[in-house]
Amino acid sequence: KKLGPTVIFIFGGSGDLNQRKLTPALYNLWLDGLMPEQFSITGTGRTDYSDEKFREHLLQGINEFSRRKDEKNGSWEEFASHISYLRMDVDKPEDYNAMAGIISDHEAAWGVSANVLFYLAVAPQLVPEIATNLNKLKKAKDKDKARIVVEKPFGHDLKSAQELNKLLTNLFDESQIYRIDHYLGKETVQNILALRFANALFEPIWNRHYIDHVQITAAETVGVEDRGGYYERSGALRDMVQNHILQLLCMVAMEAPVSFEADEIRNKKSDVLNAIRKIKKEEVQKYAVRGQYSSGWIEGKKEKGYREEKGVDPDSSVETFAAVKFYIDNWRWQGVPFYVRTGKYLKEKTTLITIQFKEAPKYAFPPEASETWRANRLSISIQPEEDIRLLFQAKRPGQTMSLNPVNMVFSYADSYNAPQPEAYETLLLDAMMGNPTQFMRGDQVEVAWEVIDPILDTWENRPPVDFPNYAPGSWGPEDAEALIAREGRNWITLP
Ligand code: BG6
Repeated sequence: KKLGPTVIFIFGGSGDLNQRKLTPALYNLWLDGLMPEQFSITGTGRTDYSDEKFREHLLQGINEFSRRKDEKNGSWEEFASHISYLRMDVDKPEDYNAMAGIISDHEAAWGVSANVLFYLAVAPQLVPEIATNLNKLKKAKDKDKARIVVEKPFGHDLKSAQELNKLLTNLFDESQIYRIDHYLGKETVQNILALRFANALFEPIWNRHYIDHVQITAAETVGVEDRGGYYERSGALRDMVQNHILQLLCMVAMEAPVSFEADEIRNKKSDVLNAIRKIKKEEVQKYAVRGQYSSGWIEGKKEKGYREEKGVDPDSSVETFAAVKFYIDNWRWQGVPFYVRTGKYLKEKTTLITIQFKEAPKYAFPPEASETWRANRLSISIQPEEDIRLLFQAKRPGQTMSLNPVNMVFSYADSYNAPQPEAYETLLLDAMMGNPTQFMRGDQVEVAWEVIDPILDTWENRPPVDFPNYAPGSWGPEDAEALIAREGRNWITLP
């Protein structure tokens, strides 16, 4: 589908997300010929930029973060001629008049009624104010032409997410609201649907009868960097579990959709979220573990502890690591634990989903034939490795029946030569096309908070006594090992 003329506004235009992700994504879409013929991008912010300075600032981002740089001679310049900057205070309603002017000027020049995308790449506390002011623009009320993209975190807890949903749906039609979770735009995440629902071989065993447990690890090797201020209000549960990890869990656990209609897919995911067992406050300790990194050495370099980071309270009890055991109380998943963990400054950068199948019903081989029976395992590696591996037992060559787990691997790099689009490219294109399938619906966000809220509540009311409790470069606190080890299992990383 060819996109119609589009006017894009990026609130938080001078910020990090735009420089690292959004402008590079739009630039790559443009290089691929996927942007509309007529488009304009306006970054807004409080910084004083001329158009020229703003473009320079964005070009730095292209050179540092984009998968393709300014490669064809002059390509950036041509793309950048579509970009301008609007200095504004989001709390001054009169500043929004300039936006109305930009829209009508373009429409007059193009001779059409344009699509408009408002991208809110701003701190969550600014979203209500911007949305309210935007609604005064006539164009924003155009259900078919105007869309608003809201970055995560969507709210701070269940109550604030409900309020935000109420406010947004009073101002806009639900079909105009795009709640973004960039994990859903990752190729390897989208491929989970293909793996599960375009192949008949996995489906019959994709359930409690054959699956022992599921693990999701989203580990990072960086600390909070310069985002201490944001992170102090967030923590690992809000930053990663409420959104990215629960969305991954939905992809693994959802029932087969009847079609690829946006609401059909989202209904199936909502069903999963609704079926997640709510952890009782008095049981949080049994199901969830938190951690915070101390100072320590990584690769010969001394790194600061979380409490020493800029913008962080020296007594902070905010978690930089979280591990949780979830159960999904439906027919398919009854009794199957889903162990998830995420953290900053962990040993490896990896986002990995592991489906551990059950032991063969009868193991005829002598115990010494193999070190482990746990070979029946499917690993979906989201990043940085992008592959799917099926680990199974094979006979080691030789005169004895000795077993050895081997991998059958599908690797993106080996199978496809073409570079993959970044998540933000896919999602920005979807938002411009008006396809909300890979975005979160209001009800999903709320149920995800319902799942997380009891843990948040308990943790906030019971300050940790042992923080900091893990060293940078480790796999997190010991309690996280215990959470899974006491059930005879262990955390899995790629071999
Ligand atoms: C963001 C979080 O949503 O996801 C960050 O706010 C985190 O704290 C990031 O680093 C991880 O994204 P990715 O795509 O690098 O795995």
